[in-house]
Amino acid sequence: MTDHATPTAPPPRGPETEARSWQLCLRCGETLAETDPWPRCPRCGGLLEVRHRPPGARGAALRALFDAPRGDPLADGSSGVWRFRELVLPTATDVVSHPEGNTPLLHRPAVARWAGVDALLMKHEGHNPTGSFKDRGMTVGVTQARRVGARAVACASTGNTSASLAAYAAQAGLPALVLVPSGKIALGKLTQTLAYGARTLLVRGDFDAALSLVQEASERLGVYLLNSINPFRIEGQKTIVFELLRQLAWDPPDWIALPAGNLGNTAAFGKALREAHALGLIGRVPRLAAVQATGAAPFAASFREAFTRPHRVRADTVATAINIGDPASFDRAVTAIRETDGVVTAVSDDEILAAKAVIDAAGVGCEPASAASVAGVLALVREGAIGPGERVVAVLTGHVLKDPGILVRFHQETEPPPPLANRPIEIDPTLAAIEKVLEVEGR
Ligand SMILES: Cc1ncc(COP(=O)(O)O)c(C=O)c1O
Ligand SMILES: [Zn+2]
Repeated sequence: MTDHATPTAPPPRGPETEARSWQLCLRCGETLAETDPWPRCPRCGGLLEVRHRPPGARGAALRALFDAPRGDPLADGSSGVWRFRELVLPTATDVVSHPEGNTPLLHRPAVARWAGVDALLMKHEGHNPTGSFKDRGMTVGVTQARRVGARAVACASTGNTSASLAAYAAQAGLPALVLVPSGKIALGKLTQTLAYGARTLLVRGDFDAALSLVQEASERLGVYLLNSINPFRIEGQKTIVFELLRQLAWDPPDWIALPAGNLGNTAAFGKALREAHALGLIGRVPRLAAVQATGAAPFAASFREAFTRPHRVRADTVATAINIGDPASFDRAVTAIRETDGVVTAVSDDEILAAKAVIDAAGVGCEPASAASVAGVLALVREGAIGPGERVVAVLTGHVLKDPGILVRFHQETEPPPPLANRPIEIDPTLAAIEKVLEVEGR
């Protein structure tokens, strides 16, 4: 496992001394200029992290800055990412913003009751422009691609990253290359990626194979890589946490639960909480609960062994967005869990689909991977890790329409039907037929 440099590591020496932001290798401590386009540390291959000089304000003054309307065209409050730009990319000027963020924090008593926590809120990232939290990282990643003068951008994806990259690249006028595992991405996501015009390659292999291939290809072809190993994406994804804290008037919840696949988001949440605490935005750090599917749970396996070694598995879950066996951001996510006294758990596909049915039936809806966070809350309540009186925010990462196929497969083809399954009924075009259906259901 790599050593992590402390948040107080010094800025680079030499010409970068005056830099507002820079990149730091978490493995060997090498520093790179903010606009260096390498996807990894050129010296040791380690993952990079973006560091910024602390903003002038902290504590109440910084909270006031983020709470106030941001009166310039770049961060006028219409983007929930660029509202926090002092902590995201302070030097950015010409940003590629849809806009994104400003997603709701929802309370639905039926979901809270089901999960066993009264004070359960759902942060619905499916309300982003392409229907997932990926837009928060992509506005920053594609902005950075333009700043470094990239001629094209690329990613491997389980579907949401590709949809988001395709949209933001189209807006920026950059060609996009996307590699997805053939037959393993949800229909909504593939449709979006094609519609927005990305060159889309269906790789005969799993996500992990697509990721190593795109890394090789981007190096060989000189294309800017926008997977979540790209540290600028992490900067954007931090704003899920900043925004939910702001929505709670900076009174942090006890827990934040999120689905975990490649672990970029877990890493981003850890970094956001570290920074929010260090800058006095919050006085107490919520605990992270990272939730995997049991069929793709290398991080949970490693957590059970106190992270003494990383695990790698052959992934197999219906939650295609988290169907990942060899997570790229493993080390950064370990830091996130350790620093927040967090936990990692795994829930079965049946538990995920049961949670999704409850979330859907409450009129909220989400894609299967997103429901893992709520299923994880229930599992952690049952094992006593989360107390029923604690305040929990579960992040719903993607929109219900992302994976329409799942409803057809599980609600309509599974016998016996799963709980809360809602099946369509075919009728003759007569009033009598409608009355007959209602009569049967009225009984
Ligand atoms: C809907 C959804 N949820 C969760 C995740 C997992 O996020 P991460 O890979 O950052 O762990 C993804 C990643 O693709 C996703 O699309
Ligand atoms: Zn290095």
